[in-house]
Amino acid sequence: MAGPLLDGRRALITGGTGGLGSAMAAAFSAEGARVAICGSDRERTAAGAEALGRTCGHRIEPVELDLRREGAAARAVAAAADLLGGLDIVVCAAGAPADGRLENLEARQWRDSFAVKFFGAVDVMTAALPHLRKSGGGVMIALSGVLGREPHPGNIVAGTINAALENFMKSLAVEAAPYGIRALTLCPGPFDTLRMRNILQQKSRDTGKSFDELFAASQADVPLQRWGTAEEFARFAAVAASDVCSYMTGTTITMDGGLRRGAF
Ligand SMILES: NC(=O)c1ccc[n+]([C@@H]2O[C@H](COP(=O)([O-])OP(=O)(O)OC[C@H]3O[C@@H](n4cnc5c(N)ncnc54)[C@H](OP(=O)(O)O)[C@@H]3O)[C@@H](O)[C@H]2O)c1
Repeated sequence: MAGPLLDGRRALITGGTGGLGSAMAAAFSAEGARVAICGSDRERTAAGAEALGRTCGHRIEPVELDLRREGAAARAVAAAADLLGGLDIVVCAAGAPADGRLENLEARQWRDSFAVKFFGAVDVMTAALPHLRKSGGGVMIALSGVLGREPHPGNIVAGTINAALENFMKSLAVEAAPYGIRALTLCPGPFDTLRMRNILQQKSRDTGKSFDELFAASQADVPLQRWGTAEEFARFAAVAASDVCSYMTGTTITMDGGLRRGAF
């Protein structure tokens, strides 16, 4: 009988303190991977790793990484490779793009959002590439989001970053393929994380509508009539990172309950 999907793989997950990132850390660990998670604050990351480790029954390594800091990605990738004895999988799930319409956004919000989600992923992938080459191959995954293909008023920053990230990953896939490294973008629709709930709370304050009313409307908008759970997303990511998808690279895989109606 086949073993766990990610048996013995060494995985670094940025945004591992967040909703989707920590769910992926738990799922990867359950599938036999050794996992390091990154978060921007040392103590919160250590506490998050400790709590996750208790839940999964396996040690999760904490690595501090504030992607707004120059050189931080290279240091964190090196630290994770040291802790895990090398790297086979890197997942970039860090990001909290600013909400707002163009006319209300400040230049600083654009720059901070790109620094964390877009340049953060570029820096982490750049630093991780030599480690994956040393391992003889591997998988690089970035999280985008449906707004990258279906623009929405008030989400211009996230949409722009997600589109750029998908393009970056496609180019990376072509460059990395000769080394046996796959590069994929996973594109989530609405998943129930603290970030998504905070966005709805803010919308509730802005519009005067209740959170429950907005939540119901948002779920009704999805063909499957609900937000996904972080665990559903994480199981899918574990499959994408595994050899089940060994012939899949350079593509974006959407998981959105049918939200995006476009043809591609
Ligand atoms: N949830 C959804 O429905 C959804 C939909 C579409 C796209 N996405 C994308 O999926 C990714 C994860 O989303 P999520 O819902 O899990 O969000 P989340 O719970 O808010 O997690 C965001 C993660 O990003 C990290 N982060 C924020 N600022 C950082 C910084 N300066 N340096 C390093 N890390 C930083 C956070 O770490 P700290 O807290 O430690 O700073 C946290 O781990 C994001 O890129 C988001 O845009 C999510």
